[in-house]
Amino acid sequence: MANVAVIGAQWGDEGKGKVVDWLASRAEIVVRFQGGHNAGHTLVVGDQTYKLSLLPSGLVRGKLGIIGNGVVLDPQALLDEIDRVAAQGLKVTPDTLRIAENTPLILPVHPALDRAREAARGAGAIGTTGRGIGPAYEDKVARRAIRLCDLAEPDTLSAKLDELLLHHNTLLRGLGAPEFAKDELLSLLNGWAPRLLPFAEAVWERLDEARRANARVLFEGAQAVMLDVDHGTYPFVTSSNTVAGSAAAGAGIGPDAIGTVLGIAKAYTTRVGSGPFPTELHDEVGRGLGDRGREFGTVTGRRRRCGWFDACMVRQAVKLGGIQGLALTKLDVLDGMPQLRVCTGYRIGGGEVVRRLPGAPGAQAAAEPVYEEMEGWSGSTRGARSYADLPATAVKYVRRIEELDEAPV
Ligand code: IMO
Ligand code: MG
Repeated sequence: MANVAVIGAQWGDEGKGKVVDWLASRAEIVVRFQGGHNAGHTLVVGDQTYKLSLLPSGLVRGKLGIIGNGVVLDPQALLDEIDRVAAQGLKVTPDTLRIAENTPLILPVHPALDRAREAARGAGAIGTTGRGIGPAYEDKVARRAIRLCDLAEPDTLSAKLDELLLHHNTLLRGLGAPEFAKDELLSLLNGWAPRLLPFAEAVWERLDEARRANARVLFEGAQAVMLDVDHGTYPFVTSSNTVAGSAAAGAGIGPDAIGTVLGIAKAYTTRVGSGPFPTELHDEVGRGLGDRGREFGTVTGRRRRCGWFDACMVRQAVKLGGIQGLALTKLDVLDGMPQLRVCTGYRIGGGEVVRRLPGAPGAQAAAEPVYEEMEGWSGSTRGARSYADLPATAVKYVRRIEELDEAPV
């Protein structure tokens, strides 16, 4: 199969970067199609650890990277990331990175609004990454976004900023946060223009050429199905569609070009930020998973919440996301645990058991996990290269996940 899309099957941080990096060696182009610098993809290559948020992971392997129009792009974050990887010896130039000209930009007003709104929510905060992702997508849909190609039309920027600031300053004022001055934003935009415009192009044409040349394209998803703005645990979600279908609209290709869809899932579950998490563990077992799995956010450094593998939720992600196969990561974190649990469904209101996370937030929060007990293993699974290298009970664990999730691992 030529093209592959990689998406998260839980709530993010499943190890997508590692798998994308591995697949990138077989691809010619790696495309980001949604999200922004809320993503944190860690790649270990030789003696270097790259922490990428916006740059497509394939750049590290010398592949062409494309940022599609479905991404929200913070120019300063991008330029800083380019400088950061340059210091590690990786040169990113317009020859190696192309950005869709119709990509909406994240300006300083967006993180300001993101944070002011989170502060106003108090205990009900979503726990966003504070990067301005939500407000930037709102502006895109509201048709007041400033897009990369607008930097090439400097005469129109002032009027565009007037419209943007009418909206944002009104909100910021209402929230008691400092307002923004147009001239500051204007000089930022004009300053970014010469550095960013050389990367801009109609990437759909390049992807169409790639299709005709049978070049292999890898679509690198960020976040995960359960953080999808439509299908996730709304409102505790990110503001983009994270399902594989999003790659088509977010890059400018037809749905048939997406190819095989690979979902990434951790052998247990983590979540960072607020929101329902039926299999969350608040005890020593959960803390142990977090310590052994080094579960701290790449982007915000927050401690991730940990719990048992939720096969019911991953099954839902498989169906919603169009996932044809799963890559299961961090199995070795479970090494030495005598007993394991896998969630197979939810009990609703102490009665009926369903195989689907309910839609409404109250019902989601009240969903009680129904567990299947599984025997753990004492041996190490580290460095295993085939099923034959795994302890028998570890194989059983993986096989059971395949069965429950209706997708091969
Ligand atoms: P990767 O690609 C895990 C979560 C945030 C918050 C919610 C909304 O590394 O898997 P946002 O800033 O997007 O508006 O925050 O989504 N979130 C992630 N959680 N991994 C990510 O990305 C995430 N990106 C956003 O914690 O709960
Ligand atoms: Mg991450």
